Amino acid sequence: MYCIMQIVQQYSSAVRQGGITYFMSALVEIKDVCKVYNPGENEVRALDHVSVSIDQGEFVAIIGQSGSGKSTLMNMLGCLDVPSSGLYRLHGQNVSELDDDELSDIRNREIGFIFQGFNLIPNLTALENVELPLIYRGVGKSKRMELSKKALEKVGLGHRMDHKPSEMSGGQQQRVAIARAIAQAPPIILADEPTGNLDSHSTKEIMGILKDLHRDGRTVILITHDNEIAAQARRVIKIKDGHIEADSASKKEKEEGDAMRAASLEYELDANTVKEQTI
Ligand SMILES: Nc1ncnc2c1ncn2[C@@H]1O[C@H](COP(=O)(O)OP(=O)(O)OP(=O)(O)O)[C@@H](O)[C@H]1O
Ligand SMILES: [Mg+2]
Repeated sequence: MYCIMQIVQQYSSAVRQGGITYFMSALVEIKDVCKVYNPGENEVRALDHVSVSIDQGEFVAIIGQSGSGKSTLMNMLGCLDVPSSGLYRLHGQNVSELDDDELSDIRNREIGFIFQGFNLIPNLTALENVELPLIYRGVGKSKRMELSKKALEKVGLGHRMDHKPSEMSGGQQQRVAIARAIAQAPPIILADEPTGNLDSHSTKEIMGILKDLHRDGRTVILITHDNEIAAQARRVIKIKDGHIEADSASKKEKEEGDAMRAASLEYELDANTVKEQTI
C-alpha cells in the first residue's frame, strides 16, 4: 500500500483509459512564472508569465532567437535559479520553497546538465572529468570508477578515458560532458545548445546519444535556436520575448504518449503489487 501511495503522490494528473484511471507524471510544472532582472526602470522581463508542463519520458526542444529567454528558462528548470514570481514544481515538489542546500540536492539527484561550451577541466583526463562530480557527491572510489567508465563507454569513449580535453575533438569533448552528466543516471537531461559549437558530423553523433538516452527512459529537454535540431525532438516549444509562442504537443500526440506512459505505469503498479504479495 505504501508503494502505491508513494507513486500516487508523485503523479499529479490522471488519465482515464478503458474505464480505469491512471495517475500520470507531471515531472515539470511551471505555472505563470516570471523572471525579472534588475527590477525598476531598467528591468528585463526574461520570462513573462510562462506556463508549461513536461511529463516524464518526454523529449522536448525549446527553441527561440537569441535573447528570447531560453537559458533563463533552462536555469529555472535546472534549479540553478528561482522565479521572481509564479510556481515551479519538480516531481511534485515546490522548488520556490527550497533553500540553497535543498536546491543543490535536487539538482544532483534529478538533473544532468550539458552546456554548449562543454565546461570540462583542461588538466584532467576524460575519466577524471567524469569522476569529479561524483567525488563532490561523496561516491566512493571503486563505485566512482565503475560509474565513470560505464558512462564513457556509453558515449563511445571507452578507448579515450586517459585523454585530456585538448587531445580530443569538439564532438569527443561534448561526449565526455554527456558522460559526466549521465554518470549517476539522473532522470532528467537538460542540454543548453549542446551542438552549438560542433560540425554537422559531431552534431549528428550528439543528437544520436540524446535520442538513445531518451529511449532508455530519460526525460530530455534540449535548448536550441536551430530548427533542424528542434525537429528531431518529439515536442517543440517556441519561446519569444520571454513567453511561449507555440507548443507542438498536439492533442493526438499527447493522448498517444499518455496511453504509453499509462501502460508502463500499470506495469509498475502490477510489479509493486506482486512484490507486496511476495513480502
Ligand atoms: N543576469 C542577467 N541580468 C540582466 N539581464 C539578463 C541576465 N541574464 C539574461 N538577461 C537578459 O534576459 C533575456 C533572456 O536572456 P537568455 O540568456 O535567457 O536568452 P537566450 O534565449 O538563452 O539567448 P541566447 O540564444 O543568446 O543564448 C535577454 O534579454 C538577456 O539580456
Ligand atoms: Mg542562451
